[in-house]
Amino acid sequence: MRLRNVRGANDIIEKSKYIINDYDNYKGKFYSLFDNNNPIHIEVGMGKGDFIIGMALSNPNINFIGIEKFDSVLVRAVQKLESLDIPNLRLIRMDALNIDSVFSHEVDCLYLNFSDPWPKERHSKRRLTSNLFLYKYDFIFRNECKVIMKTDNRKLFEFSIMSFNNYGYIIDEISLDLYSDDYEGNIQTEYEKKFVSKGNVIYRISVHK
Ligand SMILES: C[S@@+](CC[C@H](N)C(=O)[O-])C[C@H]1O[C@@H](n2cnc3c(N)ncnc32)[C@H](O)[C@@H]1O
Repeated sequence: MRLRNVRGANDIIEKSKYIINDYDNYKGKFYSLFDNNNPIHIEVGMGKGDFIIGMALSNPNINFIGIEKFDSVLVRAVQKLESLDIPNLRLIRMDALNIDSVFSHEVDCLYLNFSDPWPKERHSKRRLTSNLFLYKYDFIFRNECKVIMKTDNRKLFEFSIMSFNNYGYIIDEISLDLYSDDYEGNIQTEYEKKFVSKGNVIYRISVHK
């Protein structure tokens, strides 16, 4: 999701109390930003933030960090947060390719929502569930590695199941049609709202190792 440039986006982002500009200083000690030792959950590719904002509001005893690489998208989340006070939420502008150099054994759960599918085989390493990324995630988890993914892309879903399985992850929950299953407490993302309104099936998987 890449929007047209938003005037002053960089400035708006840098000044937001939710943004961790100096994230390099917190490797291994992100808990100190929250003044507690509650679990830390991350969403990679958080887009305009509906999911992570909703999760943070519904789960005050979990700390949430959203990661997004594009200013033009991140600024929309920052604007939504302007009138809100959510102490258990922070955002970082970064590329998830660097996730293992930013976090160190301190994350308890990772969310991947409607990640870019990178359909061409030659781009498969860029998928956020490729071997390359699963390897990087090993360095960020505190104890157990837990990943929860939603997508409407059947091919990405199948690829991810294989990739998780080959990497030693165990499936805890799987839904081949989230909206037909009785799944309680689902928080929608922006893309999810769009896809559901078009009638697309939504897949969800939760895995751990
Ligand atoms: C298809 S959008 C989905 C956005 C949101 N999760 C949703 O469901 O509405 C994918 C998002 O992931 C971001 N993204 C893709 N690759 C990324 C990466 N390597 N690091 C950080 N963000 C990334 C994109 O900029 C985009 O905002």
